Amino acid sequence: MKEKIEILMREALAAVEACESNADLGKVKVKYLGKSGELTALLRGMKDVPADQRPVIGGYVNEARDAITAAAESKEKTLKAKETEEKMLKESIDVTYQPTDVKLGSLHPCTLVKNEIVDIFTSLGFSVAQGPEVELDFFNFQALNIPKDHPARDMQDTFYLGDEMLLRTHTSPVQVRTMLDKKPPIRIVVPGKVYRPDDDATHSPMFQQIEGLVVDKHITLCDLKGILSLFAKELFDKNTKIRFRPSYFPFTEPSVEVDVTCSQCHGKGCRLCKGTGWIEVLGAGVVNPKVLENCGIDSNEYSGFAFGMGIERITMIKYGIPDMRILFENDARFLRSFR
Ligand code: DAH
Repeated sequence: MKEKIEILMREALAAVEACESNADLGKVKVKYLGKSGELTALLRGMKDVPADQRPVIGGYVNEARDAITAAAESKEKTLKAKETEEKMLKESIDVTYQPTDVKLGSLHPCTLVKNEIVDIFTSLGFSVAQGPEVELDFFNFQALNIPKDHPARDMQDTFYLGDEMLLRTHTSPVQVRTMLDKKPPIRIVVPGKVYRPDDDATHSPMFQQIEGLVVDKHITLCDLKGILSLFAKELFDKNTKIRFRPSYFPFTEPSVEVDVTCSQCHGKGCRLCKGTGWIEVLGAGVVNPKVLENCGIDSNEYSGFAFGMGIERITMIKYGIPDMRILFENDARFLRSFR
């Protein structure tokens, strides 16, 4: 019996030693130590051993079980460490690997230009305001001194959504919303989408504008010119000049169209500026006192200036893009060139 136990123990220890994985080890443990394992079978055979020898033989069986268990535990640790190391080696990342065909996205040129314009004005102390694209006639027109049936409505073709509701035709209604909401001093820029039923090489039914509004004491046309001159130098280049031409908007008085010297020919005259050396970039003016009063601001105490520009138009001028439609086609080759 003693020999049998020793042979079985040696066999079991050799089997443990030969295991190459924890799965193998599991099987070996079941085979020798499990409920219907070989050592248990030996224990069952104890009934055939003479009673006086049972304690001794029982002691051998226990020793054998302890030895096999200890060997299995130590083997398990070794195997676990080995498996962890192999797993880590397999999962390691080669940081020097150079992937060949990663398609990176990029910001749309209009987004780049919008961000740039917003950055220029926020660095001058303006904050960013927003308003709804589905707007009330009151904010889009009436409060801006464009009553119903006024001929000035023809300046902006409109998608109406009912008698009093429309898709905003410009970002100017956010001027009204801001002035009704806050007391001067006010210094805001308003980037956002606007809508008009036009569609050709230089117009799209949806386009983006940036509005500017300053209301404070003693604001004049000179402040407007100073700010816009600085803006043009930042956006185009430091030699850019601006000029004001008289114009008409119901919400400003006086009103101006603002031109910048052509960024391609620097004023000499080229195709982009149609030979004039100047390019029209935005509309602006001194806020009409009627608009201030419509918004509950005392026009004897406060004055302001405002301006509005089309982001697509500025983008086309800045990058020499001749047809606006390419900005909406999402041709990846075109978009990639702005990365
Ligand atoms: N809202 C005008 C438009 O869309 C642009 C504009 C002109 C905005 C003069 C202004 C402004 O704030 O003062 O045509």
